Amino acid sequence: MTAITAPDFVKHQALINWVAQIAELTKPARIEWCDGSQEEYDRLIKLMIDNGTMVKLNQEKHPDSYLAFSDPSDVARVEDRTFICSEKQIDAGATNNWQAPDEMRAILNDKFDGCMAGRTMYVVPFSMGPLGSHIAHIGVELTDSPYVVVSMRKMARMGKAVYEVLGTDGEFVPCVHSVGKPLADGEKDVAWPCNDDKYIVHFPETREIWSYGSGYGGNALLGKKCLALRIASVMGREQGWLAEHMLILGVTNPQGKKHYVAAAFPSACGKTNFAMLIPPTGYEGWKVETVGDDIAWIKPSADGKLYAINPEAGFFGVAPGTNTKTNSNCMSSLSSDVIYTNVAVTEDGEVWWEGKTKETPANLTNWKGQKHDPNSGEKASHPNARFTVSASQCPSIDPDWENPEGVPISAFIFGGRRGDTVPLVSEAVDWVDGVYKAATMGSETTAAAVGAQGVVRRDPFAMLPFAGYNMADYFSHWLDMGEKVGKIAQENGNTLPKIFNVNWFRKDGEGNFVWPGFGQNMRVLEWIIGRCEGNANAVATPVGLVPTYQDLNWTAIDFSQDDFDTVTHLNKDEWIKELASHKELFDKLGERMPQELIDHADKLLAQIQAM
Ligand code: OXD
Ligand code: MN
Repeated sequence: MTAITAPDFVKHQALINWVAQIAELTKPARIEWCDGSQEEYDRLIKLMIDNGTMVKLNQEKHPDSYLAFSDPSDVARVEDRTFICSEKQIDAGATNNWQAPDEMRAILNDKFDGCMAGRTMYVVPFSMGPLGSHIAHIGVELTDSPYVVVSMRKMARMGKAVYEVLGTDGEFVPCVHSVGKPLADGEKDVAWPCNDDKYIVHFPETREIWSYGSGYGGNALLGKKCLALRIASVMGREQGWLAEHMLILGVTNPQGKKHYVAAAFPSACGKTNFAMLIPPTGYEGWKVETVGDDIAWIKPSADGKLYAINPEAGFFGVAPGTNTKTNSNCMSSLSSDVIYTNVAVTEDGEVWWEGKTKETPANLTNWKGQKHDPNSGEKASHPNARFTVSASQCPSIDPDWENPEGVPISAFIFGGRRGDTVPLVSEAVDWVDGVYKAATMGSETTAAAVGAQGVVRRDPFAMLPFAGYNMADYFSHWLDMGEKVGKIAQENGNTLPKIFNVNWFRKDGEGNFVWPGFGQNMRVLEWIIGRCEGNANAVATPVGLVPTYQDLNWTAIDFSQDDFDTVTHLNKDEWIKELASHKELFDKLGERMPQELIDHADKLLAQIQAM
């Protein structure tokens, strides 16, 4: 093994040995141990500006902010290239790509051999969760992408302090990342190096992550989807907690009573907007605060409550559609110190994306770095263009967002993007019904992942691309948690969170969205909180407990009973089809499907048929 010198602040010999081993394989020109300092950040930003990876934006309009354009082939997570390499295929389950670990290691050894030639290998230590918190987990990412380093500094607690927590023998998740574009002697680099051949690989048993060929988002910032969801979901199952694709928000009513809810939506269903919701006119005295916009780690307390933390430190949000009306808290978060990727830019160095303003500014440079032709029908920014910003810059950030104990959860909300069938809101009658609702969630696909768009795909718990193990076992884990934690809760006079299903995307006969969404989702949230407090009314239907028109607050909005009927009505034929599609999912998930959910489907079908 090549002897390498680590800086004084790194005292972990196993980590140093691993860095040496990966360096021997990947053969970088140099190794840099990141300390997370401002000096390091500024230096890497300058390096990327010099390399053409980034441009500096208008510093008056966007202080300390930069824009990167990715390669047009590297713009989203690549689910078909994402692998869960458990020893046994059945442990990865029917919804994950699987390859035998030995075979995959052989492929990776080949791919990573010399892949960092001519580049710097950065050692990036990070903590998911507040530094030193008993709920946090540490990862170390070795990457040849300076874009990853500066992004990780915003998205996680990154730098020197992590080594202090690690000490001489602390546990960490090893994450190896390469853009997969070695440089020959004297070869000039491209602005966004990447490789057409991509591998996003997880070894759940040994808790390792290997990512090759992409520099974009969840493919490359390995703390996010790879560690905080895929690997953490495996840890959670073993250790009795939950790693979920959920935002966390706090709602305080005018009397000062506060509840936290955690909500799961598939990618690009407005999670960031919901997490930063501003109560509309008529809701004076109400407050919504943000704990996280994407991921929640949820652990039971000794008295049977569920406490959630946001393991991330920043937002990697979808820019298109975001504006001062749809999400003014988000726009304020972006007032300075932001890294944008694949948005458009004006001549004046101001960023723009579809939906930012009504008018498209003249003379835009599009996300491909070309002059934008407004008549071409092409978008100026990529639909999955992103901003990366520290969560601390969000005006609605919750005072407890970094509380290492987490915040107590009163309700889980699951929602997909459905033009029909699924009502605005329904409450599960019990935990099993809630797990069923979450397990059978469907959503029309969006640009956050490569692939067909606008088709309904089943996305159980919004975790389809993020569960690090067999989805059927994941359902069982939720059922077990309900049983075990529910029992402890009951013994201590507590209750499990209630479970709700929402759908903001119901359309009318002409294909128009009927529910106004955004801040108006507060009306649904108020009803949900009311249900948790036992003071809101609901009626039973075959698909759960639902509000009548009179049960929601319609102060300062013109939303008629007819409109309400359009977004809530249940159609027997649609639901029979819906249940058939649930059954298809359960069949696909195979032999480990919990019988309890299969029986529940039969019960629901009987109820729907009797409708
Ligand atoms: C995300 C996603 O980037 O879910 O959060 O795709
Ligand atoms: Mn997400």
